[in-house]
Amino acid sequence: MHDGSGRIHVQGLNKRFGPVHAVQDLSFTVQPGAVTGFLGPNGAGKTTALRMILGLITPTSGSATINGLPFHRLPNPGGIVGAVLDAHGFHPNRTARHHLRCYAAAMNVPDSQVDRALELVGLAAAADRKTGGFSLGMRQRLALATALLGDPQILVLDEPANGLDPEGIAWLRGFLHAFAAGGRTVLMSSHFLREIENTVDRLVIISQGRCVYDGHIEELRAAQQARALVQADSPDVLVGRVQQAGFGVEYLPDGRLAVIGADSRAVADLAREAGVALYAMQDERIDLEQLFFRLTQGQYAGLPQYAPPMRGTWADRPGEGGDV
Ligand SMILES: Nc1ncnc2c1ncn2[C@@H]1O[C@H](COP(=O)(O)OP(=O)(O)OP(=O)(O)O)[C@@H](O)[C@H]1O
Ligand SMILES: [Mg+2]
Repeated sequence: MHDGSGRIHVQGLNKRFGPVHAVQDLSFTVQPGAVTGFLGPNGAGKTTALRMILGLITPTSGSATINGLPFHRLPNPGGIVGAVLDAHGFHPNRTARHHLRCYAAAMNVPDSQVDRALELVGLAAAADRKTGGFSLGMRQRLALATALLGDPQILVLDEPANGLDPEGIAWLRGFLHAFAAGGRTVLMSSHFLREIENTVDRLVIISQGRCVYDGHIEELRAAQQARALVQADSPDVLVGRVQQAGFGVEYLPDGRLAVIGADSRAVADLAREAGVALYAMQDERIDLEQLFFRLTQGQYAGLPQYAPPMRGTWADRPGEGGDV
C-alpha cells in the first residue's frame, strides 16, 4: 500500500542511452505543500528523469518512488499522480470535451470531472472546439486538464509554461500555488529560470544529468551576495567606516563604492554616522539567471556550500575531470 505522503523520492537514479549518461546518480525528494521546480538546460536529463518517475522508462540503476512505491505498483495511479509530459498528442478532430471524456472513461472517473477540469484550467468556453485549432497555450491547458481528471494528489508537469504568454504564466502560477497550498505536491520542469522563478518554492537544478542544487529558491537568491553601490563625497572616510562595521568594499571604475553584503539603507546609516554625504545609492539586483548559468556550467568559485546535502545544497560538482 502506498503511504499517502504525497512525496516523490528519487534515489541514486541513473539512465544510460548507449554512450549517453542522461541521468547520473540523481537523488532528491519532492515534498507536498510546495511547488518544486526541476530546472536545467536543454538536454540536462529532466524529461528522462520525469519519465523514470512516471514508470515510462526503466532506470539503469537507482529508484524513483511516489508515496513510497514505484509508479507501476501504485493502485489507481490516476487518482494519485496527474502528469503532463507532452502537450501535443491530441486528436485534432476531437473537441476538448470529447478528448477529456475519452480519458475519463479510460480512468473510470465520472464525466462530471470533465467539466470541472475544463473550468479549473479556464477552457470551459472552448470545450466544444476542436483541438486541432488550439493555440500552444490552449494545448498546455488541455494537457493540464487531462492530468487533473483523477483529482490527483501530485502533479508532475514537463515544461508546462512552455508556450504560455505572460498572462498564461501568471495564471499557471496562481493555479499551482493554490494546488500546493492545499497540501498537494507539484513537480514542474523548465529550462528557463525566469519563467518559473516566481512560481516555484523549491528548486532542484540539474546539469548534465547531475543534481547541482537542491533547496529553497530564497536560499539560492541569498547565496549571491547583494551589493550596495554608493557615491560619497568623502569615499575614503566612508570606506573606513564600513570596513569597521565588517563589510568589504570595492572601488568601482566610475568612482562609486560597492559595499559587499550590505543594502543601501545600512550604508546610508554608516555614512550619516561618519558625517559623509551620499549622492547616489543603488541596491544591486541579484541576478538569479546568472547564478543558474554558473551552476549549470559547473563554475562554483565564490559560491557558498551548504549542508546537509539534501537542502540548499550544491551537490557533487559536475564536470570535474574536464568533461564539461
Ligand atoms: N530515447 C533516447 N535515446 C537516446 N538518447 C536519449 C533518449 N532520450 C533522451 N536522450 C538523451 O538524454 C539526454 C537528456 O535528454 P532529456 O530529454 O532528458 O533532456 P531535457 O533536460 O528534458 O532537455 P530539454 O530541456 O531539451 O527538454 C540528451 O542527451 C538526450 O539526447
Ligand atoms: Mg525535456
